[in-house]
Amino acid sequence: MYKSILSRVREFKKHSFLAPMFITLEVFMEILIPYMMAKIIDVGIKNSDISYIVKLGIILFVMAMLSLFFGAMGARFASIAATGLSKNIRSDLFEKIQKFSFKNIDKFSSASLVTRLTTDINNVQMAYMMGIIMVARSPIMMIVALVMAFIVNSKVSMIFLVAIPILIAIMYFLIKKADPMFVKVFEEYDVLNNTVSENVNAQRVVKAYVREDFENEKFKKLSLKIFGLFVDVEKLIALFNPSIILVVYSVIIGVFLIGGKYVASSVMTTGELTSLVIYSIQILMSVIAASFAFILLIIAETSIERICEVFDEVPSMDINEDGEKDIKDGSIVFKDVDFSYSEDGKRLALKGVNLEIKSGETIGIIGGTGSSKSTFVSLIPRLYDVTNGEILVGGKNVRAYSLSDLRDSVSMVLQKNTLFTGTIADNIRWGDENASLEEVEYVCKLACADEFIQRFPNKYDELIVEGGNNVSGGQKQRLCIARALLKKPKILILDDSTSAVDTKTDSRIRDALKNDMKDTTKIIIAQRISSIENADKIIVLDNGNVVGFDTPENLLRENDIYKENYEFQKKGGVAIEG
Ligand SMILES: Nc1ncnc2c1ncn2[C@@H]1O[C@H](COP(=O)(O)OP(=O)(O)O)[C@@H](O)[C@H]1O
Ligand SMILES: [Mg+2]
Repeated sequence: MYKSILSRVREFKKHSFLAPMFITLEVFMEILIPYMMAKIIDVGIKNSDISYIVKLGIILFVMAMLSLFFGAMGARFASIAATGLSKNIRSDLFEKIQKFSFKNIDKFSSASLVTRLTTDINNVQMAYMMGIIMVARSPIMMIVALVMAFIVNSKVSMIFLVAIPILIAIMYFLIKKADPMFVKVFEEYDVLNNTVSENVNAQRVVKAYVREDFENEKFKKLSLKIFGLFVDVEKLIALFNPSIILVVYSVIIGVFLIGGKYVASSVMTTGELTSLVIYSIQILMSVIAASFAFILLIIAETSIERICEVFDEVPSMDINEDGEKDIKDGSIVFKDVDFSYSEDGKRLALKGVNLEIKSGETIGIIGGTGSSKSTFVSLIPRLYDVTNGEILVGGKNVRAYSLSDLRDSVSMVLQKNTLFTGTIADNIRWGDENASLEEVEYVCKLACADEFIQRFPNKYDELIVEGGNNVSGGQKQRLCIARALLKKPKILILDDSTSAVDTKTDSRIRDALKNDMKDTTKIIIAQRISSIENADKIIVLDNGNVVGFDTPENLLRENDIYKENYEFQKKGGVAIEG
């Protein structure tokens, strides 16, 4: 797991190597400084040798400057390495997510994928930076300072052999207690993130339903929960802090007590005692710093797991790059098709579907909400793969085609469609990035979009804001249809794509499609019977079953569900007109 993450350092290996090198140099300077100080005290001050003091003073100053320089370089390389690593993980992860099928995305949820791309990667970045600094700093500092302390006075230094294990034991208990708390904090952060992103994205809906107070309350509760968890962590640290400080001061007092006796009996000099005190602080601080770096690693571990889950996810769809490129025509055949959204293949959303659609036909689909209309059409461009049976397009199994070519030939306007930030022309060109303005205008005319685009001050260069919130629902739908037409598809699928368009415009769009896209197979899902009553054939769906597939005239005679719908809607129409 760690290997898969660490291998992504790539071009920043050099920095990851240089950082500990410089930190090591810094540590050596820091350890030599007390040694030089001892010399100044013992030789210079004792003998009142001013020139010696000045000479060593200058060397000391240079060493301090070098230590600062090495420290700064180390930190610089460490931060470049860490941000570089996170940049690489982020782009790899993003690339991986682009390969995901709808099924893969359903499994994680988009909000959770966003958290993994942001918070989790940041945690890894922090831990990596602290990691490469501490890996060099703490052990080297501890060992070299210990060795120096023993060289200065091995008897006094015995005190460290007692103090270090005690300190390590205290830090061990602290980490053991704090670990589950941190894991909990980050789990709650996840929930918080999801709430924030959901709310910000759906701000308009929240406002429309006057749910601000409810959402505020929900958010407050979550914040309070995280606050509580942090207070628990702080309490724990507050409890451990005095014991850590107790150990540090005991050691210093011990060094003074035992060392003082040696100084009094002239076994040790004052300068040596001073350096010993500084070494004690360096040794103990390195143990404490290492422990905190360890806590960061623990926090990052959960994040690493979550990132690796995404890396390890096998894209559930084979894109079949070398597959067939040429789709002969827009004919569609469903053979004994079952489909389930769940991994285990139970709870079928579509059951035993068998039907044949000829190239160029216009097919309507009706059925109640949740009857699997969207599911049915999403199988044709392979947004999902069938669970059992097979689907043929242009006489061949859809899996035989290269996925990108299949999706180029099967253009689908999704029920929940989005426009992207950019001009109208940019958005339409999603269908074909090389299309000329004439071609863009042509499809916009077919989709009855040209008429309102011409009324914008900048016409086709009018900017669409994020999510397309500056065009009406019906306008957005027409732009999405135009975008789909630009692909010159063999099969065009409109999933309730004219629901927000008035009936008159709806019928003009249908006429335009009928006359100008004769060879394209058109599949139209609609709630309004009027949108599909001129179709060649209509599929009636009920709870995942095809309960009717025939001409509108025949269905009106033989199919109860269709007849009921037809009469209900026609009556509604009469009521309004009358
Ligand atoms: N991504 C999904 N994951 C799991 N279940 C889904 C998913 N999309 C739709 N379903 C379920 O499949 C059934 C059919 O949904 P759908 O095809 O969207 O119906 P319709 O378009 O006719 O309203 C519903 O019961 C719905 O809850
Ligand atoms: Mg639907």
